[in-house]
Amino acid sequence: MATTSYDPLHPPRKALSGSEPSSFGYTTIQSRLPVIVSKTVDDIYRTYHSLPDTDPHKGAKEQEAKSIIEAIGALRYELQRDKPFRPLKDNLPDVEEWNRALAEYYATSSWFKASWLFAECYLYRRIKETLALTSHWCDYDPFFEQKQTVFRSSQKAVVAIAARLMSPSNNNNSDTGDKEQAKSLSALDVLVSQGPDSKGTREAFLELSQVCLWGNATDLSLLDNPDLAKVEELQRRMLGSSSSPGSQSHSQASSKNSSSLDLDKQAQEEANVQQPRQEGETSELEKHAEKILQNDTELLWDKVKNMRNGRVDFILDNAGFELYVDLVFADFLLRAGFASTVVFHAKRIPWFVSDVMPFDFQWTLDQLHKAGTSDPFFNLEDSTEQQALKDLGQKWQSYVDQGIWKVTSHDFWTSCYAFYHLPTHSSAQDLFNDMKQSDLWIFKGDLNYRKLVYDCHWPTTTPFQEAIGPLGSREDVPSVVSFRTCKADVVVGLKPGVGEKMDTIDKNWMVNGEYAVISFKP
Ligand code: F6P
Ligand code: MG
Repeated sequence: MATTSYDPLHPPRKALSGSEPSSFGYTTIQSRLPVIVSKTVDDIYRTYHSLPDTDPHKGAKEQEAKSIIEAIGALRYELQRDKPFRPLKDNLPDVEEWNRALAEYYATSSWFKASWLFAECYLYRRIKETLALTSHWCDYDPFFEQKQTVFRSSQKAVVAIAARLMSPSNNNNSDTGDKEQAKSLSALDVLVSQGPDSKGTREAFLELSQVCLWGNATDLSLLDNPDLAKVEELQRRMLGSSSSPGSQSHSQASSKNSSSLDLDKQAQEEANVQQPRQEGETSELEKHAEKILQNDTELLWDKVKNMRNGRVDFILDNAGFELYVDLVFADFLLRAGFASTVVFHAKRIPWFVSDVMPFDFQWTLDQLHKAGTSDPFFNLEDSTEQQALKDLGQKWQSYVDQGIWKVTSHDFWTSCYAFYHLPTHSSAQDLFNDMKQSDLWIFKGDLNYRKLVYDCHWPTTTPFQEAIGPLGSREDVPSVVSFRTCKADVVVGLKPGVGEKMDTIDKNWMVNGEYAVISFKP
């Protein structure tokens, strides 16, 4: 298990750390993590208090819940008093590697002195320890209820997107020439039927890649108190309001001039959240494009458009709406023929509050299936909307059943290591050997970005390919793209002057989730 091919104490630049009082790392360890820990306790407390009397293990579960709450209380104390890290005590398969790293690199370190990356990963691993040491709570996810609530609040956006992906299109603008067939296809299918290199497919790619990016804006760990209205507002801004030319009204959108997937238009009409747009107005996605500070979308398209029946790996981030739009993008890559296999990498343990675990993946598909049944997850009156969600759920389930979509997890993703060590760390060899066979790795979200660039003080003009170290230089690493909204004080790949200009526009631009990067390595 042990390897000497890495040393997490010496990233290529000085590590971000809670020891810097003006940093977001400091704010996180000082203020945000204690809140997350308290909410974890609240969840366990609520759950054990609502156990039914008929539960044959009620007494044992209550006892164990009390021990978990006590252990998490001790964890909060250690965190707030900046106590030294202690070894883990459970028997999970990754414990040896964690304890080795703790002994070798962090023996004299503590929450605010260590790298922010290590301290924060350790926190979630310690929360898992409190659960793993029990019999009845060892598979419990204390963040599941939050994930569920926020997904439910995403209903309008979820339905709007499903309708465009599944409902038969009225679009007569099929370049296939077969108008009847075009009518029975969804808007997405009409676009991709024009061929992988066509204008329609390119437009769908551009739109869905942006939707996939901004899906990362609604993660739960940043929203310490998830304000559901804020989540909905974020999604409305992402999908709704104004337009691009060619999407002025439904009939006009269906006219010859429109071959856009027109998700923003759909949200407007189906969610009834916005006024009609005026011709010439800029779409929300277009406005948001200005907030993508490094935007390698065109480079990514150059890669994707030349792929046929390839393999794409998604290193997932958050469950709920973000996962949903990841699946939408993955579905597009399949329908357009760019990929024939998509591998989704989920987390094995509850991680950074909202990250996807394998259970969340299947649960999400199940909730789509349930539309229109007597036990629906989303509250939909409209039978067309119900059908669209159901069809989408069934389609996606069939991808899973046929092995076209694979969901996997590996301890490396919840280790303390930066992704520099993926190719060489002995504990990740099986993972890397498998992932080498892919054509494209899509890393979602902020934490994955931090691990890609080693969470250290890079100048903002450092090329992304340089900042990702071996993943940028090794020939056996496929193309890499990161879709990330900025929520930590490290950003690379910017043109000279952009970082300085951003400092004058918004002093929190690196951390408030309002800005983003799409960073690509060929
Ligand atoms: O709390 C630290 C952090 O990594 C932030 O940088 C970010 O807000 C969050 O956790 C995780 O974000 P994401 O879900 O996008 O990885
Ligand atoms: Mg996350």
